[in-house]
Amino acid sequence: MRQAIPGFQPLLSRPALFKLAEREHVESRLITQQAKGWRMKQGPMAPRSMPPLSKEGWTLLVQGVDMHDANVHALLQQFRFVPDARLDDLMISFATAGGGVGPHFDSYDVFLLQASGRRRWKIGPQKDLSLQQGVPLKILQNFEPDEEFVLEAGDMLYLPPRYAHDGIAEATVGSDGKTADCMTYSIGFRAPGQSELAAELLHRLAEFSEDDADPPSDGSVRRAARQPRMYHDPAQAATATPAALPAGLTAFAGQAVHEALKDPLALACALGEYMTELKPSVWFEEPLHAWAPDAVKAGQASIHLDARTRMMYDSDHVFINGESYRAKGLDASLMQRLADQRSLSARELRKASASAIALLGDWHDAGWLQQRPSGEDI
Ligand code: SIN
Ligand code: CO
Repeated sequence: MRQAIPGFQPLLSRPALFKLAEREHVESRLITQQAKGWRMKQGPMAPRSMPPLSKEGWTLLVQGVDMHDANVHALLQQFRFVPDARLDDLMISFATAGGGVGPHFDSYDVFLLQASGRRRWKIGPQKDLSLQQGVPLKILQNFEPDEEFVLEAGDMLYLPPRYAHDGIAEATVGSDGKTADCMTYSIGFRAPGQSELAAELLHRLAEFSEDDADPPSDGSVRRAARQPRMYHDPAQAATATPAALPAGLTAFAGQAVHEALKDPLALACALGEYMTELKPSVWFEEPLHAWAPDAVKAGQASIHLDARTRMMYDSDHVFINGESYRAKGLDASLMQRLADQRSLSARELRKASASAIALLGDWHDAGWLQQRPSGEDI
């Protein structure tokens, strides 16, 4: 897509990107291609540890920049024509001339937006997906591209899953006579695998089915534990074949899986919790100000989800950062609106019930959302 975002300017300077790669909760990788082969170093990077800019053929990748920079987060919002459940993050790469991560394929769809400088992409619907052995990266052994595109700032390339590609930074001189940094923004998708989903959901469903029927007062779906049902075999006779699995146990196992799956609401609930689960590296800061419920009730404060928060919903539940809540009626529509807009204005919040305000207060205290005086609404 030529000039997908006309006149696009990078949202983060090179020094700001390097600084981000030094942070502990930020995933970053430094990749260098040398005569000896490929080398990869995981972040956090030590201060001033980047190779010199005059050295060709290296690249720094910083993952999840949308969680750390408000402007990058805003850019990712432009891709929300794709459901949140399918969007992963925005990664930024910086490369010196000749730099890249080698010919490879990704398992997910990706939009590659050129932010500054120029990058040459070779792409192809590769059949032979065998990888080079003994390299710290996934690199195709026999890459056979059939198309080539040079992307300039504002241009964007879309690649479906498993479409092979190799992007190499080109030396570019800007209008000011200086070399322009080659920076590429990857908007990555996610897609759960069938067996991964089955494992995750069955695990959660098994936990649910050990729970009591009385919902707790905070409205969350989690329930108090009760005694789990155990396999028992009062009719088991003394056996001469002790290694044989008892048929009754196989039947009990089948029944256990059937029980765990029989409630469609529970399945939807487990799915929502899983889809809003955060990566292990994500953590939230303590709120700067105390929650002010009176300002919310008086229509004087708006709320805004933190950039790291993952919030989704279905017709019966609201999911946030791996937790689920049953929601009905007016509060449910309000929470759904919060999830879609990622904010609620002071006027919208005036309709919230006392229990919804209390729940929002818990999320505020966990750092999952911020409150602003309504005059500061944006
Ligand atoms: C890059 O930005 O250098 C690599 C992105 C990709 O190939 O997925
Ligand atoms: Co890729």
